[in-house]
Amino acid sequence: MAERNGGTAMCPGSYDPVTFGHLDIIGRAASVFDQVVVGVVNQPVRKQKTVFTAEERVGFIRAEVADLPNVQVESFSTLLVDFAREHGARAIVKGLRAISDFEYEFEMNQLNRKMAPDIESIYLMAAPQFSFLSSSGIKELAMFGGDTTGLAPDAVAQALQERLGKQGN
Ligand code: PNS
Repeated sequence: MAERNGGTAMCPGSYDPVTFGHLDIIGRAASVFDQVVVGVVNQPVRKQKTVFTAEERVGFIRAEVADLPNVQVESFSTLLVDFAREHGARAIVKGLRAISDFEYEFEMNQLNRKMAPDIESIYLMAAPQFSFLSSSGIKELAMFGGDTTGLAPDAVAQALQERLGKQGN
């Protein structure tokens, strides 16, 4: 296996809930960086209430990364760059799916760069099989009785079913 020598990376997000697309990015970051901190935003960003609490979202991810010894999962309620600094992260790693992600990520990139020019943001292209996958997409599926198996871990798919499954009826 190739040597990892990239220091610590921060993989931030709302993860409401985590999908196989997120887990792919986290795993790929963990193969490049010595340490990966998955930062789960505690506050609802963009004024949307989250379906799962921060503790639940952290728990779903922890269960899935248990076999990756260099990955830790923590929630945070501060500025992302401050949380990254706290953990000594030199890089923020995010996934990019389609052009539609670009505009939002470009804005976040400029904000984060302005506050912390020493922390580099790095983007990993989503694997093709996950390029359509989003947390909002699977929430919508679950709400209208769609099957989310294979898109997110079983525990997440089940929790989505329990929490949202009846709303579309
Ligand atoms: O797309 P997401 O998953 O909702 O992104 C969340 C996050 C924190 C990665 C994104 O909003 C971001 O990069 N924000 C930078 C500005 C910041 O620090 N906001 C405070 C979050 S508590």
